[in-house]
Amino acid sequence: MFKSYRNILLSAAIIAAASTTLFAGSDASRTYANGKKVIDGGSTYPVKKGKTSSYYVNEKAHKTAFHMGRPATADEIKAWNIDIMPDGTGLPEGKGTVEEGDAIYEEKCAACHFDFGTGGAGYPALQKGNAYEGQKSLTNQRVDGNDEGPIRVFGTYWPRASTLWWYIKTGMPHPAPLSLSDDEVYALCAYIISINELEIDGEELDDEYELNREKFLKLVMPNKDGFIPKIDGKNGLENTRKFFNDFSNYGNGTRCMKNCFDGEPKIARIQGVGISDYQPPLSNKKDLPPKKEGAGGEHPGKKAYEASCSVCHGTDAMGAPMVGNKKAWEAILKKGIDKVYHNAIHGINGMPPKGGTSLPDEKIKEIVDYMVSEAK
Ligand code: HEC
Ligand code: HEC
Repeated sequence: MFKSYRNILLSAAIIAAASTTLFAGSDASRTYANGKKVIDGGSTYPVKKGKTSSYYVNEKAHKTAFHMGRPATADEIKAWNIDIMPDGTGLPEGKGTVEEGDAIYEEKCAACHFDFGTGGAGYPALQKGNAYEGQKSLTNQRVDGNDEGPIRVFGTYWPRASTLWWYIKTGMPHPAPLSLSDDEVYALCAYIISINELEIDGEELDDEYELNREKFLKLVMPNKDGFIPKIDGKNGLENTRKFFNDFSNYGNGTRCMKNCFDGEPKIARIQGVGISDYQPPLSNKKDLPPKKEGAGGEHPGKKAYEASCSVCHGTDAMGAPMVGNKKAWEAILKKGIDKVYHNAIHGINGMPPKGGTSLPDEKIKEIVDYMVSEAK
């Protein structure tokens, strides 16, 4: 469970990082003075005896290979490897207070995550909200699904604090990922830890509390051991086996292949979600809409319209009734279609006869039909 949750976060962050990496990649191959193509933006790497070298495009390999891509270079891998491990790998130095975090939060986060991280309108809460005393974490979230219970947020659910840091750094604020400085991220983490009422080293985080790398790594998440089965560590496999061999942990509690239930099986629905909450699909028809007359479903007047009339009728800037403007064409059609054909062929005010073309009358009528059909 923990693994997959973390992977979701990881992919979110990789997407956030991808834009930087890919843009860097587009500039990755350059030809240098010696005529060789240098990759990795001209970075150099130690060879031996203090000498350095760039990576060059291996022209020979290109002749025999798939002609697609190339191996990632050390710098590229470094750029992609952005997660922060629970042991502190990847976590930079920095500092920030709860108060500073509060101010940044107000400015950059509250619009979506609401005051004090209460969430709503589809945006996740960042604090544990209505967690009642006595059950501060989701130690056994499978069992406790009542409304009073804690909701799955950072403080109640996340097993590792380190995830918070790089989630914010690489993914938030949602419209501008990677825009926060390391100190700002520390300040925001301090604020989020404080609204979740978590303690570091037995200390509550008041406004003046200054979080830094060392203190952050001491934060122990309440739900760290709440994930079942416990798949991490050297006993992971054994724990998983034990969990799935104990039938009281899931299902109806007994191992059976037939006659598993006395009477009717009870079907438990997800709380608060009645069947009436589901909308049937709007349509179960699988056919495409019928094709319009003419080749490829196109109106026969469309091509000629585009070639000869759209210069003026494609916008309303020329004083010509715009094709697709229902109101304009309703007014025109009040004259009767024969009068409209006549005006198109002989011209009226700014409308040159036949739109300045020498198309046959029948073609002009066909185009007018197309123009009229677009206003329906
Ligand atoms: C424009 C809206 C928006 C803004 C602004 C924003 N967020 Fe988010 N935030 C989201 C959305 C949407 C998600 C859920 C993303 C997902 O699940 O893929 C999210 C998720 C998160 C999460 C993970 C929550 C969880 O339990 O999964 C954290 C932590 C977070 N945001 C922190 C912040 C911080 C800190 C800021 C300010 C620097 C911020 N966000 C600004 C929209 C926003
Ligand atoms: C040089 C610009 C121009 C071109 C090209 C042009 N039109 Fe027009 N058209 C106009 C203008 C301006 C009007 C509005 C005339 C008015 O009622 O004052 C108009 C009006 C019309 C009307 C409405 C006539 C009415 O009864 O009110 C039709 C139908 C029409 N154009 C068809 C065409 C067709 C078909 C073509 C192409 C073969 C075409 N136009 C090309 C400028 C153009």
